[in-house]
Amino acid sequence: MGKTAVEICELDYNKLLELLNEAYAEEWLAYYQYWLGAKLATGAMRTAVEAEFAEHADEELEHAEMLAARIIQLQGTPLISPADWEKHAGCRYLPPQNPCTVALLEQNLASERCAVHRYRQICDLCHGKDYETFEIARKILHDELEHEQELEDFLADIEHEKICREKHKDNK
Ligand SMILES: [Fe+2]
Ligand SMILES: [Fe+2]
Ligand SMILES: [Fe+2]
Repeated sequence: MGKTAVEICELDYNKLLELLNEAYAEEWLAYYQYWLGAKLATGAMRTAVEAEFAEHADEELEHAEMLAARIIQLQGTPLISPADWEKHAGCRYLPPQNPCTVALLEQNLASERCAVHRYRQICDLCHGKDYETFEIARKILHDELEHEQELEDFLADIEHEKICREKHKDNK
């Protein structure tokens, strides 16, 4: 726990801890959404999607670790029970009920876009007031933007395959 860490934090400290715990809950849910999606995925580009989801799951878990460390440094407590994750998360857990890769990609894309807004919110709150939390949120924002881009690329490639097939359907 950091005494000075708290002293130099020039903003609504309870509000910040609340937001960090909401983001923390979202990272665990994102981790599980990707982790399970990687196992269930079937359909177009399945092996590539599976690998990407597994990698993103690891990265979401890393984000959860970064947030937990910062919450503790600010003398807060990361949510104690998994039962609290869904209660505190602003970005909802989307169960991978439909295992088709396009459905999973769309679902995780929606989650990434929610995460982008979350870290933008934390960056806005901390800008010029809490340099350390700002840096952490900015680093995570960078990763979430990259995730969004990668999922968009998968969906575009799969769509392109359909268009390509249609265009060349007479060339057997
Ligand atoms: Fe994340
Ligand atoms: Fe992400
Ligand atoms: Fe990726």
